[in-house]
Amino acid sequence: MKGIVLAGGKGTRLYPLTTVLSKQLLPVFDKPMVYYPLSVLMLAGIKQILVISSTDHLDLYKNQLGDGSAYGVQISYKNQDTPRGLADAFIVGKEFIGEDDVMMILGDNIFYGANFGELVNKTVKDFSTGATIFGYYVKNPKPFGVVEFDKSGKVLSVEEKPANPRSNYIIPGLYIYDNRVSEIAMNVEPSDRGEIEITSVNDQYLKIGELHAIKLGRGIAWFDAGTPTGLLQASNFIEAIQNQQGFYVSAIEEIAFRKGFISKEQYLKLAEGQKNSPYGQYLLDIVDEIEDEKRSQGKF
Ligand code: TTP
Repeated sequence: MKGIVLAGGKGTRLYPLTTVLSKQLLPVFDKPMVYYPLSVLMLAGIKQILVISSTDHLDLYKNQLGDGSAYGVQISYKNQDTPRGLADAFIVGKEFIGEDDVMMILGDNIFYGANFGELVNKTVKDFSTGATIFGYYVKNPKPFGVVEFDKSGKVLSVEEKPANPRSNYIIPGLYIYDNRVSEIAMNVEPSDRGEIEITSVNDQYLKIGELHAIKLGRGIAWFDAGTPTGLLQASNFIEAIQNQQGFYVSAIEEIAFRKGFISKEQYLKLAEGQKNSPYGQYLLDIVDEIEDEKRSQGKF
């Protein structure tokens, strides 16, 4: 399974913050926004990752994340000339996807919660064919893609920003597709707002009876950090969790070391380089704890 972080777009909901800056490099508390979606792919065990962003901003992502080797993954980059819609990721990323299946995450989506890493890891391992999306209960589903379930949990419908939503379950920006997705995306007609909608891709999978959806429980926090309020709420949430528990959210170095993607030496090098910040200090502080944990899990 390969992974795509979709980190382009116009970011108009954040103007003037994003007039010159790329949205997914804005800070969510103490780290760039893109760390959060990247960490989800890493937690899922995905090591071949494509970052898609606009031509103007792509080099910034390359400078921030490099080729991924520091984190034990391979990151490649591809530009999206115009933000044509979420499903464009599978057209821009067609060559990268090659013969594989793909997990795609939106660059402004933040997930955190009990066993979330395990859930995504297992979902990727169990994936065989079709499409898997997630359903997340919200009070106001109108601005989002909405999924309707029957009593047995089977998907009945998917709709983009419905005026009269058929359920309170929205589809957050994390999706898994089999290899047919690029072909399907290429045949999607642009919507009234001129975008190739991911909901249209999901609808195609639904039509062929291969759209699966997993409900995320209320213990999972999800944020769309693409609005001023969403951005602040996400920052406040991350700050609260990190200060309360002492564990950091989406520290990609920590995840890489815990998952065995990098050695202790590689990890310490990354941590040392950032030791003047609380983030870097945290990475240094937890090295023994991670090692103990790995030892108890027989990972040495
Ligand atoms: P959106 O937040 O829906 O779109 P946007 O980033 O253009 O922002 P706005 O609505 O404020 O104008 O996009 C969700 C994510 O997908 C976000 O991280 C940007 C990314 N994206 C692309 O990379 N390419 C695209 O064509 C679109 C539509 C979004």
